[in-house]
Amino acid sequence: MKKITLFLFLAFMSFALGFSQSNLTLDPCLKPFYHGVASGDPLQDRVIIWTRVTPEDISNVNISGTWKLATDNQMSNVITSGSFATDTSKDFTVKIDVTGLQAQTYYYYQFYSDGIGSPIGRTKTAPGDTTTNARFGVVSCANLEAGFFNVYKAMNQRNDVDAVLCLGDYIYEYETGGYEPNTATQRFWQPATETITLADYRARYSVYHLDPDLRRNQSIISLDSYLG
Ligand SMILES: [Fe+2]
Repeated sequence: MKKITLFLFLAFMSFALGFSQSNLTLDPCLKPFYHGVASGDPLQDRVIIWTRVTPEDISNVNISGTWKLATDNQMSNVITSGSFATDTSKDFTVKIDVTGLQAQTYYYYQFYSDGIGSPIGRTKTAPGDTTTNARFGVVSCANLEAGFFNVYKAMNQRNDVDAVLCLGDYIYEYETGGYEPNTATQRFWQPATETITLADYRARYSVYHLDPDLRRNQSIISLDSYLG
């Protein structure tokens, strides 16, 4: 099976629990991986894994760490690993293209920085050449202010989805209240203004990734646009 599109994102899960759905603030339990982990853009032999390492001190401009990818969720059978460095130019995001993998196979991955491990993510490579069936989840129009991301949670609870396709509107770019009233949800976009600049977009993606259902599903991430 050929690579489908850059907007094909794998379903995967982490095992961090205990989030409050409406609390879009930094959860100290996740420090410094407040935005969780994610993966996507799979091929038969590779997949991209992602995280963000939020610095405690913004003057700490250079962040380094390591990552591992294993065949089990205890991270004991590690088949590949590496190191990373990130900084303000990437908004402290990390994006690794992990290669040398087997087609249509689940893998587990984790990042480490300053001795702290991130939530463990699960990912899956693209189907092999002889695959005849694949099941996709489809999402779109994720308006954080207008509602909750229950569908991400629902996807997370299934094991029969090979990949998730985001058809668009992974985020919205409106100013607060500019699309739908948020009186029922009491959820607020950041920045409150329409997203225009790079800093605006970074802030908007950041607040989305503080949503616990999105983060726990980690099913999708706009890897092309959230380069940091
Ligand atoms: Fe939409």
